[in-house]
Formats: sequence, structure tokens, C-alpha cells
Amino acid sequence: MKIDLLIKNCSELHTLKGPKRPRCGDEMKDTAMVTGGALAVDGGMMIDAGETGELEEKYDPVVSMDATGKTVIPGFVDPHTHLAFAGSREDELVMKIEGKSYMEILRGGGGILRTVRATRKATKGELKDAMVKRMDTMLSYGTTTAEAKSGYGLDLENELKCLEAINELDREHTMDLVPTYMGAHALPPEFKDHGEYIDYCMEEVLPVVAERKLAEYCDVFCEEGIFDPCHSRDILLKAKELGMGLKVHGDELANIGCSRLAARLSAISAEHLAKTTVDDMKAMAEAGVTGILLPGTPFMLMQGHYPDARMMMEQGMALALATDLNPNCYTESMQMVITLACLQMKMHPREALTASTFNAARAVGREDIGCLEPGYKADVVILDIPNILHLPYHFGVNLVERVYKDGKLVFCR
Ligand code: NIG
Ligand code: FE
Repeated sequence: MKIDLLIKNCSELHTLKGPKRPRCGDEMKDTAMVTGGALAVDGGMMIDAGETGELEEKYDPVVSMDATGKTVIPGFVDPHTHLAFAGSREDELVMKIEGKSYMEILRGGGGILRTVRATRKATKGELKDAMVKRMDTMLSYGTTTAEAKSGYGLDLENELKCLEAINELDREHTMDLVPTYMGAHALPPEFKDHGEYIDYCMEEVLPVVAERKLAEYCDVFCEEGIFDPCHSRDILLKAKELGMGLKVHGDELANIGCSRLAARLSAISAEHLAKTTVDDMKAMAEAGVTGILLPGTPFMLMQGHYPDARMMMEQGMALALATDLNPNCYTESMQMVITLACLQMKMHPREALTASTFNAARAVGREDIGCLEPGYKADVVILDIPNILHLPYHFGVNLVERVYKDGKLVFCR
């Protein structure tokens, strides 16, 4: 049979074959590895995966790619980013080095609010230029799909600008984006009261976002001193009513009941989770809420307090990993995140791989990516490493040699 592409002789091929639902707890270690494996791709889709000899007999490829000595995986899915921002905050890094906390910087007019000022000032074109630069880097680091949140515009005009930029770039750029509305990210300066601002989001912004189909998900920064669980619940229920999926930034700096809220509302994911209790973990496991862990954030906050990934898996939770890309945690690299996940949260490299591909795809509602079995999209990454253990181990450099999106070669070193 004639096909477009055969990738053969992979030192390790991780297909992620297995149940179609998110992989929980112990299941995360199984990446369905084939030694000396091959992949058959046609029309942008995966049509076969197995032993090289077997596939070579069955297929007559237009292009044959020899992956001797390489590890082949599905494209990374980054399920939590704040891609739509203007400006940067490198000087705040120095403040953090000198001992200032994230909340102190925010209360002093820095942090999120400073990025809101820069993002409001930027035109949609300027914002898109900054985003494209980041997306090009993400793609070259192996990310083929990412979620992208608004949340640095806050008022109607600027939230729409950010969401339009995300939706346009999903169509215009090779990488795919999943748009999330996160108006409840901070209290904008023109409001004095969190309740009033949440009402504004619910009455003036969410209905327009929903009507124009600009976001698939609604997220909220549920945190002590930011939005409390009551305000968070109100806006999430409104978003649900309008047909959106739910996400929660919770238990990042303090535990005020946000992951429990995510479980009660059957959110698709709860994100951060550095201060989550074992009972919260059980509730999320039972409700099928995926925990999206963002080890780059505690790393950049220098707080040394990472989510308890091992305990979460023990309680049967499904975990995903993400960059949290934002001006506080400025990285496009899922490879860096995997290194941090393995070293700081004691995840096994195979668990980290499942969390960065298959489970990450489910955490953004994508059922056709994150796996290299027949019927999935051919989003494939060839890593210049002989086995997956090198992924966290050989750190701080780009290990990606080739990226295929929908079966097409889109990055090559
Ligand atoms: O997920 N925690 C809230 N939002 C972002 C940080 C945003 C910022 O500092 O600009 C986060 O870490
Ligand atoms: Fe975030």
C-alpha cells in the first residue's frame, strides 16, 4: 500500500496506546513502548504503528525516514499557557531574588496588573507578533498543540482583542491553540470590589465571548486575596450555562477550597495544586478532574514548594504537565517542565511523557491527538536521544530533531 511517510528503526517508539480516557495513577507509567518501532502516516493521519520489519513489508512510502538512535513520541500538548501577553517583567525576577513575594509585587502594582497595562496598550497586531514568536519557539521545542488563556485585558474590549488574537493564530499558525477565557485573573484598576467585577464579567463579557464562540473554556484564579470560591463558582456556573468547559487555577499559594470546587463542578481540570490536601485529591480523582501541574511556576517563584505529584497518582488522579507560559514563568519548553517534574516532583520520565502528551490532550478536550495509534492525527516528534530517560536527564538544551504536524514536516534541525 502506498503511503506518504514511514518513520522506521526508532530506538524507542512511545505510542501511548491504551484506554481512550485520561490515564490515572499507575497507568501513567505505561507509554506503550516499541523498541525498533515504526510509524505509517498517510493523509496527515496515523495509519499504523508496530515493528519496523512488519511495516516495511506492508507499506510503500513516498518518504522513508530512518530514526536509528532516536526516540519518537507524540507532539507535546501544553495544556496551560497565558500566551496572550505583551511586555515582560525581567526586573521582577531580581525583586524575587532579593526576597520579595509574588503577592507583594502584585500589591505594589507589578505582576499581573503591570502586564495588563502593557497588553491593553498593544494593538492586536503587536500582540499577535509577540505570540507568533513564542509559538515558533514552542513548535521547535516539540509542542504541536497548546491551550491559551486570555486574562491580561480584563475589560470587554481587551479580552476580546486577546481572544481574537488566539483564535486567529489557531487558524494562521501551524500549531493548534485551544482558547480559554480568563477574565477572572485579577481585579482591574477600574473596579474596587471583586463581586462587582465578577458581575461585570458574567453580564458584559462572558455572553459576548460565548456568542462569538471565542473560548472553549472558562478559567478563574481562585486564590486567597484574588477571587474566592464563591465568586469563582458564580462565574464558572455562568460559563457552564453558556456551554463552556471549566478550568480552575487553584491551591497555588494557599488552600481556600478551590480544588474541591473544581471537583464539585466537574471541571475538566484543576491547575497548580501546590497546596492540595489528600482529601481534595481523592475528590478530584473521583470526579475525574485532571490535575495540571506547572512546576516551572514554583521554580520561578523560588518558593521550593511543588505539588505532591506522587500522592496525587497514589490517590488515582490523572495528571498533565504544562509550562504556565506567562511573564512570571517565561518558558515555552515542555522539555524544561519535564526535567522539573522528574527532579522536583519525583515523576518517572514515562509518567511525565504521558502527562505531557496523552493526558494533556484530554485536559484540553482534544481526543484526536496525544497518541500514535491508527486514527489519531500524525503529530509526531523525533527526539535526538536513544531512550526516554534522556529527556529529563539531558537538560537545558533542545533535544528535538524533527516535528511533524498533521503528517507534514514543520521543524527540522
Ligand atoms: O498561573 N496564577 C495566576 N496566573 C498566572 C501568573 C500570571 C502572572 O504572574 O502574570 C499563573 O501563574
Ligand atoms: Fe496559569
